[in-house]
Amino acid sequence: MKPASDFGRMLYLDHAATSWPKPHEVIRAMDDFCNLAGGNPGRSGHRLSLAASRVVYETREAVAELFGMSDPLRVIFTANATHAINLALRGLLRNGDRVVTTGIEHNAVMRPLRALEQQGVRLAVIPCEPDGSIDLARAAEAIMPGTRMVVINHASNVAGTILPITELARLAHDAGAWLLVDAAQTAGVIPIDVAAMGIDLLAFTGHKGLQGPMGTGGLVIHSTVDTATIEPLIYGGTGSRSAHETQPEFCPDRFESGTPNGVGIAGLGAGVRWVRQRGIATIREHDRELARALVEGLAAIPEVALHGPTDPTQRTATASFTVAGRRVSEIGLRLDDEFDILCRVGLHCAPAAHRTLGTFPEGTVRFAAGACTRLEEIQTAITAVEQIVRT
Ligand SMILES: Cc1ncc(COP(=O)(O)O)c(C=O)c1O
Repeated sequence: MKPASDFGRMLYLDHAATSWPKPHEVIRAMDDFCNLAGGNPGRSGHRLSLAASRVVYETREAVAELFGMSDPLRVIFTANATHAINLALRGLLRNGDRVVTTGIEHNAVMRPLRALEQQGVRLAVIPCEPDGSIDLARAAEAIMPGTRMVVINHASNVAGTILPITELARLAHDAGAWLLVDAAQTAGVIPIDVAAMGIDLLAFTGHKGLQGPMGTGGLVIHSTVDTATIEPLIYGGTGSRSAHETQPEFCPDRFESGTPNGVGIAGLGAGVRWVRQRGIATIREHDRELARALVEGLAAIPEVALHGPTDPTQRTATASFTVAGRRVSEIGLRLDDEFDILCRVGLHCAPAAHRTLGTFPEGTVRFAAGACTRLEEIQTAITAVEQIVRT
């Protein structure tokens, strides 16, 4: 495999799938964990185990601070956002419960919800507008009293549309429901304050905006949810209360059975610190500028249709488009082969979102910029699309 530095002029525009390359600090933290703190965290009493526990706890603290949580023990580490969403849904929803979601969700939300529907959970989907946005009057109608949970993504992985979390939290709480936010596309990209925004449960992934490695993520459980009412997804050893054959009641152990991904969590910690050092507001400002350049550049090509909001304040720098008369697979291949531009085409694990955008079943070409993408690189990508359209 070629090292990253040999990739020359390659332009990576697939940050919505996973961020790349990772900051050096992240790679060093994982290397250090293996060499200097490689014991099993929370298990043994020797120095390598204690050093590992310290790294895991420091990551928990960094994540809690990033999301405005005062209690780091309510940050539960999982393997990814999908795992965290499953923990929240399967842990809290019971047969007969009513749950509301939107028409712009990823399969990480839709598949567990459809499976729960088969088991007796009642599911309502709020239809979204063709750009992925949500009409709050429609949402208010759907989120009726008696709803147990509202599940929404913070931003669409297909159209980049940002959903109004605070307003939806108010609707959810007025109906007596919890709000679960899938922040896979926004953690590390857009400021998130769990308490200020009214989020009860926040699922995040570590390997995208937070700059960490794959295999990391978590569920942040606000104090508005009693953790004793959440059924764990798995049961097993935690290193605590070893004399008991029943699961500990306390967090995070109740939900973190089995040896954790210590190496990954060390990398995640460094990624979160990288984000905090750069400043989440600065990262979002840059993201907005990239979004503006993407929207303006794509809109200027007559054959191109952009699927998503045009206002950069309402979207992230993840932009989906189609080209009249061309297959998305052809555009993706030519971008890769002729221009060294890596992006993702197709349905992006989100058929519901594509139905909303009117791009099902063919899908779209998706350019997804990241924190280190430069404005001139967006111009390079737009020029490549122009050339492909003309030939
Ligand atoms: C909106 C959204 N939700 C959930 C996920 C799932 O994230 P993970 O693959 O880390 O579980 C993704 C991944 O692309 C996503 O974009």
